[in-house]
Amino acid sequence: MSATAAAQLLREVLEQKRRKGASHVRVDPEDLYKLRRVKQQDAARAARVRTEERQELSRMEEPEVAGEKSPLIEVGGSSREEKIANLAAMAEEAPAPRALGTLRGTMVFSVGDPNAQLMLIGEAPGFEEERQSEPFVGPAGQRLTKILKAMGLERSKVYISNICKFRPAIDGGGKQGTKNRAPTKAEMDACLPFILTEIDIIRPKVIVALGRTAAEGLGIEGSVASVRGKFHEVNGIPTMVTYHPSYILRSEQDADGGLKAKAAVWADMLMVMDQAGMPISAKQRAYFKGK
Ligand code: URA
Repeated sequence: MSATAAAQLLREVLEQKRRKGASHVRVDPEDLYKLRRVKQQDAARAARVRTEERQELSRMEEPEVAGEKSPLIEVGGSSREEKIANLAAMAEEAPAPRALGTLRGTMVFSVGDPNAQLMLIGEAPGFEEERQSEPFVGPAGQRLTKILKAMGLERSKVYISNICKFRPAIDGGGKQGTKNRAPTKAEMDACLPFILTEIDIIRPKVIVALGRTAAEGLGIEGSVASVRGKFHEVNGIPTMVTYHPSYILRSEQDADGGLKAKAAVWADMLMVMDQAGMPISAKQRAYFKGK
């Protein structure tokens, strides 16, 4: 029986119970998780069909120019929120990352406001992100939230995403526990059309690439020290590369308590705020002055 037919059958059983006066049913959390997956898969399938129909139409309208292939994904929806939701449903079913066999199964897409002026991009979800299905919620994420707060921003007011939409597996992923690893170039490339399409939908004023891996995934090569402190361009959007929040956490073990790394990130964030047209107070400008 297909997942859709099973969901329909379940709906009928629940409806029967409701007619008999039941107002609650006990559901095993594991089954609830499976039901949610069915719903996500159905949405992804519907989004794929709509996209295929649109692609077919545009193929009929505009003959393809030889050698020109857009890396962007065509996605339907009448608002940014709807487009991002449809794109996330498509990522759930995307064949390329799954075909690699090196990524774990849970898809983690993005969080925050699709109408935001600021978009932050990391490399891939880790243990905590996979557990909560949300980017940047582990220790590095908590540090990122603090940086945003210092900038005068709530997490919900920016858009946060990752290049790789699945947690990279270690030794097949079976007994990985809390261990994480950075995504490979192939893993990021397999997911790249998604982040490029997110950028195209959001069109933020500024992008921040968090760490060298994310920067390289977006095509900005070099150590963070050599590429930070100036704007690059990704899909026409000014893009700042800065140290990953987990680098700041590690640098707190250094003799200076991480001051150098923190001051560098803050200098980058002041440039980002300026570029985004955000107000900057004298106190914010002075955070690391004279330290
Ligand atoms: N590191 C990342 O790059 N992304 C996350 O979502 C979490 C940690």
